[in-house]
Amino acid sequence: MYKILFIFALAFLFVGCMDVTKVAPKINTLGLHQNIAMLELGRDVYINQCTKCHNAVRITRYSQQQWDNEIMEDMILKSKLSKSQAAAVTAYVRAVLENSVTLH
Ligand code: HEC
Repeated sequence: MYKILFIFALAFLFVGCMDVTKVAPKINTLGLHQNIAMLELGRDVYINQCTKCHNAVRITRYSQQQWDNEIMEDMILKSKLSKSQAAAVTAYVRAVLENSVTLH
């Protein structure tokens, strides 16, 4: 019995981990070689600052246009980010949209 519970727990843990990387893909899965430090900061902001009011939103749920025109500016204001945090999270979202074609 416990064995079955353990396997279920493992399965959930696994699905949980997969979900985070789908919501906010890790930088090393994007195949990029430039601005890595900035993108890492952007992901950090995304996971830690953008989750204060709601769960992290799957980035690829919205188009670049929606992010640019309807979402980012408002959410950056709401998060009270510094200029460099704002630039980093914007760059991160852009990098994910441009490079994670397999995650849609
Ligand atoms: C102070 C609270 C707060 C913070 C911090 C915050 N959000 Fe939001 N977010 C909201 C609320 C409230 C909504 C829904 C209403 C709206 O669109 O304003 C929302 C909606 C969204 C949506 C859906 C937009 C839509 O049109 O459906 C996305 C995507 C989003 N937030 C991303 C982010 C990102 C990225 C950050 C970090 C830069 C962030 N949020 C930080 C409060 C917040």
